[in-house]
Amino acid sequence: MLFPEYRPRRLRRTENIRSLVRETHLTIDDLIYPLFICEGKNIKQEIRSMPEVYRFSIDKALEEIKEATQLGIKAVLLFGIPNKKDEVGTSAYIENGIIQKAVRAIKDKFPELIVITDVCLCEYTSHGHCGIIKNGEVDNDLTLEVLAKIAVSHAKAGADIVAPSDMMDGRVGRIREALDEAGFSHVAIMSYAVKYCSAFYGPFREAAESAPKFGDRRSYQMDPANSREALREASLDIEEGADIIMVKPAMPYLDIIKMLRNEFNYPLAAYQVSGEYAMIKAAAKLGWLDEEKILWESLISIKRAGADLIITYFAKKIAKKLNEK
Ligand code: PBG
Repeated sequence: MLFPEYRPRRLRRTENIRSLVRETHLTIDDLIYPLFICEGKNIKQEIRSMPEVYRFSIDKALEEIKEATQLGIKAVLLFGIPNKKDEVGTSAYIENGIIQKAVRAIKDKFPELIVITDVCLCEYTSHGHCGIIKNGEVDNDLTLEVLAKIAVSHAKAGADIVAPSDMMDGRVGRIREALDEAGFSHVAIMSYAVKYCSAFYGPFREAAESAPKFGDRRSYQMDPANSREALREASLDIEEGADIIMVKPAMPYLDIIKMLRNEFNYPLAAYQVSGEYAMIKAAAKLGWLDEEKILWESLISIKRAGADLIITYFAKKIAKKLNEK
């Protein structure tokens, strides 16, 4: 008998054989495209640390969404950049807030598109924290009431899914209750169940002008050193009514994605965050990495780990590639 008996290379010989035994696939249906929306008209402003990602005024966002839908993208995640901020984030829930206006405009033109809205306070508060400040700290229960108001205002505007990213305790339950009371039992919640306190959010904070003015987010976002805590966070959100759970960031936390996949039978999303995007872009710009190949590998790894959905700033780029195939 020839040695070795089993030769794994037999199944790697040609591209057709490789694709026959390929275990993981990426499709356009997996993608959620995040967009930053600002006030004003005719604005498409590139973000310094995120090349080819822009802040769009609503009119320009509609053009961008048209392109995205033509590529087959079915879901967007909206972040608002308001004109006015205050201590309590009033502009996050007013009827004519930036997100409320954007959702109405988008739903008017693209009724089939899944519109997901970020529910948080950091973009809307003058201090840049994700909640209401009392005695120098982010007050959990005061914040819950505001988050509930924000979620209901988004649902009123026509959002299909709300995505709380603040990491307050009990917010999924409070938001579910408020949505149901207001007649929006059909609006789903995608919770940032497991959101780490990560330096990978740096470029996002530049994009959304949402960096905290004092302190940091360690008293509410998770410690990167913890994994068992991720199970507790996800269980709580599911018990409170989350429809989709999310892990964020994605690539440095593939072990967490895998763990949640094994533990829960709920749709699982992963967020390839701004810092992951910026790293790939920067290395590609220097000619140190092949952007397209790295992008593919990073997304397939996130899926292989167990994510069903991926939120990525590369959504359009990857959709284009998938359409060519
Ligand atoms: C808001 C929010 C953040 C991100 C998504 N929602 C920033 C933060 O928590 O500071 C980060 C997304 C990214 O980095 O792409 N709380």
